[in-house]
Amino acid sequence: MERISRGLEDVDIKWTRLTTIDGERGILRYAGYSVEDLISGGASAEEIQYLFLYGELPREGELRDFVSKVERGYRVPAHVTSAISNLPRSSDAVALQMGAFASLAASERFKWDKTTDRDVAASVIGNMLTITADVYRHVNGLPLVEPDPRGGYARTFLRAALGREPTDDESRAMNAALILYMDHEVPASTTAGLVVVSTLSDIYSGVTGALAALKGPLHGGAAEAAIAQFAEIGSEDAVERWFQENIVTGKRRLMGFGHRVYRTYDPRARIFKEFAERLAPRNPDALRYYRVALRLEELGIAHFGSKGIYPNTDFWSGIVYMSMGFPLKNNIYTALFALSRITGWLAHFIEYVEEQHRLIRPRAVYTGPGERKFVPISQRS
Ligand code: ACO
Repeated sequence: MERISRGLEDVDIKWTRLTTIDGERGILRYAGYSVEDLISGGASAEEIQYLFLYGELPREGELRDFVSKVERGYRVPAHVTSAISNLPRSSDAVALQMGAFASLAASERFKWDKTTDRDVAASVIGNMLTITADVYRHVNGLPLVEPDPRGGYARTFLRAALGREPTDDESRAMNAALILYMDHEVPASTTAGLVVVSTLSDIYSGVTGALAALKGPLHGGAAEAAIAQFAEIGSEDAVERWFQENIVTGKRRLMGFGHRVYRTYDPRARIFKEFAERLAPRNPDALRYYRVALRLEELGIAHFGSKGIYPNTDFWSGIVYMSMGFPLKNNIYTALFALSRITGWLAHFIEYVEEQHRLIRPRAVYTGPGERKFVPISQRS
């Protein structure tokens, strides 16, 4: 049994030039650039998408070419839209994204090829914008809006999803969310996708596998689970009692707290918290949850801090999404997380398949009975 690394903790499955995390000091860098520097320096989501696929920040002409490849992906085949709209409005938003990507896997001819992988990845990033906007509008019973590519990826997405011109504040927050969630080395979703593409299955199937893993409440589903906890608590005054009854007693996990790698405050959570502070007053529910979250964070850090369990990015991101006008519905916050993370998934897939490909096929340690003889069912006592 000592051979097993439960949860593959501390197992290195690939090397990467994409992202580095210092979990002790709370540092996250993309190809050397800290996320704080990228956000405060005014980086656009599309520049960082380019950085992930090409390893360097783009010059202006390079960015224009890249953006036009992404924009070509905004047009998705009609059967992809139908894969979303034929399913019930009550469907899980990430499962709808999976359905859309599975239908792209069915129709698109794809072969791994160094000369075209990045072009396909750019169009997949475009596909994801339309798919996510369509998913959001479908679960909310709204007519679909064709993306109008003006003002960058964040603004184009918000316009297509919300069906109105976003404010500058909303676009800035969406742009930051896209960057903050863009990659995080090899969490469960990226690893699930890597297992898929290690079989040389296609890029759309890799995304479908990654989405399936992201959906769970211990991973991407935590943003929604955190908001559900804030809603259950209801108000600032009720936090202390709820915390005693549910968390101190060990009955439940505090959602949005704890991380496999960070032993300190997640740097992404710090930035999301600043956006939450700025945007929450626009929306009465978001403001109420923000106040609950502030008190809950205080109690959570006092209780768990000595064990290295601190707020992760999902503790604060839901409040930011809610403040931008996205109601809590059908796991939509996890679908928004996926809209950002798709770039990291694609970049890791390309890095793995092009440079270090080998089929991922681990072993299991057998602990069942020794050799036995089959007894037909009629003779079993
Ligand atoms: N609330 C209460 N206890 C916790 C929490 C939490 N949020 N997180 C960890 N612990 C405790 C566990 O109960 C366990 O205690 P024990 O050793 O006494 O049994 C110990 O810390 C270790 O927990 P594991 O689940 O083994 O640690 P792991 O490294 O797998 O945890 C995880 C990572 C799954 C994220 C965990 O912290 C958790 O469940 N958090 C809540 C869900 C969440 O917020 N997920 C989002 C992750 S970030 C992201 O996906 C973007």
